[in-house]
Amino acid sequence: MKQDMIVILDLGSHENTVLARAVRALGVYSEIHPHDITAEELKALPNVKGVIVNGGPNNIIDGKEIDILPEIYQTGIPVMAAGHDKALCEIKLEQFGNDEEAMKEAIRPFVFDICKAEANWNMKNFVADQVELIRKQVGDKKVLLALSGGVDSSVLAALLLKAIGDKLYCVHVNHGLMRKGESENVIEVFRNQLSANLIYVDATDRFLGLLEGVADPEQKRKIIGGEFIRVFEEEARKLDGIDFLGQGTIYPDIAESGTKTAKVVKSHHNVGGLPDDLQFELVEPLKQLFKDEVRACGVELGLPYEMVYRQPFPGPGLGVRCLGAITRDRLHSLREADAILREEFALAGLDKKVWQYFTVVPDFKSVGVRDNARSYDWPVIIRAVNTIDAMTASIEQIDWPILMKITDRILAEVPNVNRVCYDLSPKPSATIEWE
Ligand code: XMP
Repeated sequence: MKQDMIVILDLGSHENTVLARAVRALGVYSEIHPHDITAEELKALPNVKGVIVNGGPNNIIDGKEIDILPEIYQTGIPVMAAGHDKALCEIKLEQFGNDEEAMKEAIRPFVFDICKAEANWNMKNFVADQVELIRKQVGDKKVLLALSGGVDSSVLAALLLKAIGDKLYCVHVNHGLMRKGESENVIEVFRNQLSANLIYVDATDRFLGLLEGVADPEQKRKIIGGEFIRVFEEEARKLDGIDFLGQGTIYPDIAESGTKTAKVVKSHHNVGGLPDDLQFELVEPLKQLFKDEVRACGVELGLPYEMVYRQPFPGPGLGVRCLGAITRDRLHSLREADAILREEFALAGLDKKVWQYFTVVPDFKSVGVRDNARSYDWPVIIRAVNTIDAMTASIEQIDWPILMKITDRILAEVPNVNRVCYDLSPKPSATIEWE
């Protein structure tokens, strides 16, 4: 293995992720693990040079104060105590709050002088180590992966491909709610350029059939999520002898779904919900990475820039932007308007500046006039927001001439549309998506 590692044991601190990033900023790879890791599990992790026990206010579980297992101190691996707890007061990391720079300096002596860790964390080494670990875990068995074309699943596919080649089976389900050109791009990159085993399922008719007449947003999400699992399951059953499932889990997913000490923010699943008789062992090589690191990993693996720096796109896709009961003609208008918006944002360099931008088509019409005749058509709503963590968002102030150009193009090129509006609502009170 090429990289040294510092393990952070989570004793209920809010600063675990800042600490993990501070260690990585020193050039040393770090992983966050639950407080009750056993000595055996710890020693099974590659190249562990030191342990930081990070205590905090969430150190009470079921009324009992938690602690690490005493056997950890017997492993011979240096342990540093940090945190709020009086018993763990060697370094009070909470005084640094989110100041990664200050925290970095505070832990530097432990990492380098006591643990003698080498600053050898970089994406090249990370990829090399993960390739070795994946090969060790999977052997000559087969891995199945739901490849949506999003950043996480794409980077995971490229990494697994490098590790196990044609023992990887990617399934791309087109639910008919993808953006223009997106499924085609997945096929081009993974099947044509990277020669991956890619099973492409065009399930448009199935999804749109089930969604017909369904206007309630939650109901729509449930149908799309549920059907996605069914289609994926059908494909999984067709393939013989699959033992592993690749999951594009990344660290924020784990943090948001609740670690042992953190409360659930929102439940996250990628391809959860598969039936019990389809049990796979998981392969999750990205689960200790933050989003920017996942992108860096994708670049290291040679994925195209647009794929790695793609803006977030919700699982239910255009389904939550074609408001109310989805119809094929309105979905077509939405897809074309979205493609124009993306093209113009890229031309103006806004694709690198704005966090998320998209169009919405509501399920009502308004009166207009075209070629001296009355029209009765849909509006297109443009939304462009900036955010750090998607929990709150502010509106991007787009230059007027760019908005005018986009408006003119949508009105000229998109069928059945006679108005363009710009959504000025921050989150809160709105959410980023409309449904
Ligand atoms: P909201 O609308 O809740 O969105 O402000 C916050 C961020 O999450 C994305 N989003 C989703 N992502 N599955 C996803 O993978 C979903 O069901 C989903 N719903 C919203 C949204 O695009 C925004 O970036």
